Amino acid sequence: MATTLEEHAGYLTDRIKLARYQEAISHAVQSGHTVMDLGCGSGILGLLALRAGADNVIFVEETDVLEIARRSITDAGYADKASFLRTNSFELAATDPVDVIVCDHVGYFGFDYGLLALLADAKKRFLKPGGIVIPERLTVQLSLVESGECRKRITQWQDGSVPAEFRWVDAIAANTKHAVDLEADNLLDGPEILDELTLGEPAEEFLSWSTRFVCARDATVDGLAGSFSATLVDEIRMSNSPLLDDRLNRPQAFLPLQHPVAVTAGEKVDATVMCRHKDHLIAWIVNFPRQDLTFSYNTFNSILLDNARLSQTQPTRVAALNDRGIARKAVLSYCDGKRTVAEIHNLVRKEHPELFPTAEATTAFVDQVLAWNTDH
Ligand SMILES: C[S@@+](CC[C@H](N)C(=O)[O-])C[C@H]1O[C@@H](n2cnc3c(N)ncnc32)[C@H](O)[C@@H]1O
Repeated sequence: MATTLEEHAGYLTDRIKLARYQEAISHAVQSGHTVMDLGCGSGILGLLALRAGADNVIFVEETDVLEIARRSITDAGYADKASFLRTNSFELAATDPVDVIVCDHVGYFGFDYGLLALLADAKKRFLKPGGIVIPERLTVQLSLVESGECRKRITQWQDGSVPAEFRWVDAIAANTKHAVDLEADNLLDGPEILDELTLGEPAEEFLSWSTRFVCARDATVDGLAGSFSATLVDEIRMSNSPLLDDRLNRPQAFLPLQHPVAVTAGEKVDATVMCRHKDHLIAWIVNFPRQDLTFSYNTFNSILLDNARLSQTQPTRVAALNDRGIARKAVLSYCDGKRTVAEIHNLVRKEHPELFPTAEATTAFVDQVLAWNTDH
């Protein structure tokens, strides 16, 4: 919970973000409107919509943070204008269409937490024709980076900081997207605009962008940095570009090189970034033509999968229940709309003593299955 609280405190204390959303929401939301706060977290954006005169706000959030929204909005006196849905929006059946969808799931690179699919699905199923999506457009940006702090994310695995047995993890770190806070003087070139996307429209499943950088000075290239500029409505924008004084209090997405490369002023560096955004996968290729060097990385290579889990995805595999599946099936078979939770606990313990090594483990498992698969 501490990390979750920190995360949401971060959003709530970002003055630039709040000011821009407030301006955009006041502009878009009119009295009589129904608004969906999609991925509402603490509920701050829905609160701004209520203050702007919305008749109704639907708060949608898949995590327990929804309870912070519920209490805050209720205490603010808006309980009769709010509904709270604890669900993943992709699993939410279509509701009465709304006038405005507001969302901040823009991440560090704009698309890196699944925003494109999230808003395309929400617009198609939840928005009135002619309704407004906030943010409405996204500019994806890339920079060439020199940064000792960024370099450390990789070198810490090889410089004696960790016991020798773990040094190979630098290869995992090199294939990972890192959240970093860059300053303007960390940029050797850029941000270059890679793409401008209309949010809410269906996006290609795979996106690929290339750009050429020219190094501003003799330097060491540590990698690439992704950032974004999001147009909320009209000309109201927010960005995490390190070049802007009025940027969001939000990191950039650092895409490393495993080993830094020395370059000279004026040297050209070519970069390609590819993504399968719905799955949060990013690949990047960095080419130094003058030095005939090319490096290629992919966040897929940093997923810590064992071979057994990997082979589970084979379409030709015949799927048979494992012990956990058998246990889940048993628990669900006792949910007949009449039995109490205590009766289900007793039945599982009595009929399936072999499922878990201890009664405590059985109890915890039953509670978890009931929480996820039954309504209150
Ligand atoms: C970046 S936070 C923003 C929270 C809040 N809107 C704000 O501006 O402070 C995004 C939130 O969206 C939630 N979320 C992401 N995808 C979701 C989905 N498909 N359905 C419901 N909630 C989602 C996350 O759990 C997270 O709390």
